[in-house]
Amino acid sequence: MRQVHLTVLLSFAAFATAFLPSASQHDHRSTKDAKVLILGGGVAGVIAARTLHRKGIDDFLIVEARDELGGRMQNYTFGVPGKQYTIELGPNWIQGTQTGNGTANPILVLARKHHVKNQYNNYDSITTYDYNGFKEYRHLLDTSYNQFVQTGVVAGERVETQQVDLSLQSAYGIIGATPKNLYEAACQYYEVDWECKYFLLSRLDPANHCDGTSISCTGQNSWIATAWNNNFTFDTDMGGFSDTNNLCIDQRGFKTIIQAEAAEFLQPQQVSLNSVVTSIEYSDDGATVTLTDGTTLTSDYVLCTFSLGVLQYGDVAFKPALPSWKMEAIQSLVMATYTKIFLQFEENFLMAIYADKERGRYPIWQSLDHVKFFPGSGLVFVTVTGDFSLRIEAMEDSDVQAEVMEVFRAMYPNITVPDPVAFHFKRWNADPLFRGSYSNWPASFLPGHSTNLRATVNQTLWFAGEGTSLKYYGFLHGAYYEGLHAGGEIAKCVEDGGCAGLQHVNTVLDASPYPFVSITP
Ligand SMILES: Cc1cc2nc3c(=O)[nH]c(=O)nc-3n(C[C@H](O)[C@H](O)[C@H](O)COP(=O)(O)OP(=O)(O)OC[C@H]3O[C@@H](n4cnc5c(N)ncnc54)[C@H](O)[C@@H]3O)c2cc1C
Ligand SMILES: *[C@@H]1O[C@H](CO)[C@@H](O)[C@H](O)[C@H]1NC(C)=O
Ligand SMILES: *[C@@H]1O[C@H](CO)[C@@H](O)[C@H](O)[C@H]1NC(C)=O
Ligand SMILES: *[C@@H]1O[C@H](CO)[C@@H](O)[C@H](O)[C@H]1NC(C)=O
Ligand SMILES: *[C@@H]1O[C@H](CO)[C@@H](O)[C@H](O)[C@H]1NC(C)=O
Ligand SMILES: *[C@@H]1O[C@H](CO)[C@@H](O)[C@H](O)[C@H]1NC(C)=O
Repeated sequence: MRQVHLTVLLSFAAFATAFLPSASQHDHRSTKDAKVLILGGGVAGVIAARTLHRKGIDDFLIVEARDELGGRMQNYTFGVPGKQYTIELGPNWIQGTQTGNGTANPILVLARKHHVKNQYNNYDSITTYDYNGFKEYRHLLDTSYNQFVQTGVVAGERVETQQVDLSLQSAYGIIGATPKNLYEAACQYYEVDWECKYFLLSRLDPANHCDGTSISCTGQNSWIATAWNNNFTFDTDMGGFSDTNNLCIDQRGFKTIIQAEAAEFLQPQQVSLNSVVTSIEYSDDGATVTLTDGTTLTSDYVLCTFSLGVLQYGDVAFKPALPSWKMEAIQSLVMATYTKIFLQFEENFLMAIYADKERGRYPIWQSLDHVKFFPGSGLVFVTVTGDFSLRIEAMEDSDVQAEVMEVFRAMYPNITVPDPVAFHFKRWNADPLFRGSYSNWPASFLPGHSTNLRATVNQTLWFAGEGTSLKYYGFLHGAYYEGLHAGGEIAKCVEDGGCAGLQHVNTVLDASPYPFVSITP
């Protein structure tokens, strides 16, 4: 199937370049397969393609390994026959929506345009548990939330006074908020590991106690970058969209926003699905991209939108090897893993936080069996992150289910909780097309690394994706804005018949280097 498609595609490209006048007046290299190869058909790749198209450049080709566009936007049909639902294995929330007529999150704009159903995500109540069942510690959540806000404020002061970045965990220590027991630890996990990117001011209103959100990070993350990342999305004073999140519940899948958008401008010959890239050879004169079946594609420009995890792992060979400033930038971020474990039961359960003796052991439970989401579905998902995600990825489904049910039964000691009727989770870290869920900045955060992650190599090789976004890394809207930016810059370059690209810095220096200390015994 794929080969047939690709053959047709290549002959089209050869025809197009050989016989049709080029879109660019400065084009002296019309023998290539495309002016621009866009590697990866996720949000960043599709939006970059749309940007080129809008600027009048249609000589591009999206090369995507999977059989559809959307990248990490992936749905799954889940549940017993008669009670099946489209659930989201990847992104689920539009994070930061719109305040009044202010700037709207571009993901919300796409959802509105394509009538993709999304719903303000506000749980009426949250119940707290430990390994002996129900345990009241809800008030600690308010404390934990206020502490998280405080870390953001103190981060702002550190930026003002040019103090070095530290980890979020250090930040909690500095403001005197180190958790003293497992309940405080569970609440801090909720804010930091689970809700970290989420600055919900409306939560100060106890009635709106818990908005579910999805992105997580860890205490190892950068204090300053975390505060910025939250502020730029959720704090309107800092240019953020709003302090709320909407859950996508469209039964066509959240990916519809990007697939429907692509359908408006993308011609069949502008996309090659089921095409896995193995190497990217580049020079000042252009690039040659090789696929698993040996097919080669040539172009003047290449925009690589593969995830940070893919770049870190070395799944794709760069020839020549990437310069050291780029390698350093790639390894300077962390590709985090976030896992949603879906269960379906005969009955409904509430949103809950669970405190185990082991940190991060099945701590956050969310019900989708809610009047605003999928009433009557019996759907629940429990979230794990970081090392715990990696741990369960290495286990059999049945063993993970047994552990999850052990926790669930501990939460409801006086009820006979039956086994779920359906169970599913996706192993994001093990997937060679993603190798994790999204990127995070560890401390110390050095903006030069972000500049270099985004910078062009040899005027030919460009990079975009959520990971290259300084302000919105991790988010769908980060991927969107990066696609928009890279597409715009490449378009200018094509029009001008070449350009220097996005500049890098040769060495990334610490804000405050260590003073020389003589070591005397
Ligand atoms: C579990 C999970 C939950 C999330 N929750 C949210 C959320 O609620 N809200 C939010 O805003 N964001 C969320 N995110 C983050 C969001 O999904 C990403 O920011 C966004 O989808 C990244 O888009 P991208 O275009 O940068 O990368 P990708 O979507 O990764 O696109 C890159 C593309 O490259 C392709 N590719 C990789 N290797 C190759 C190869 N060798 N050859 C050819 N093609 C290749 C991939 O198949 C992919 O299609 C979540 C992510 C995950 C995984
Ligand atoms: C995603 O949702 C669509 C629409 O409901 C469905 O056709 C498709 O099978 C789903 N994908 C998976 C992998 O379940
Ligand atoms: C946005 O709303 C404000 C206050 O409601 C109003 O003053 C302003 O004119 C509006 N701006 C636009 C562009 O509609
Ligand atoms: C479970 O039952 C025991 C004994 O009847 C009771 O003491 C305990 O409070 C109950 N626990 C919950 C969570 O209802
Ligand atoms: C984040 O926003 C808060 C509240 O507006 C502000 O006090 C703080 O300085 C901001 N932090 C950073 C790092 O910009
Ligand atoms: C790429 O650019 C660097 C300078 O930035 C140069 O030293 C190198 O020779 C170039 N490589 C190729 C293959 O053009």
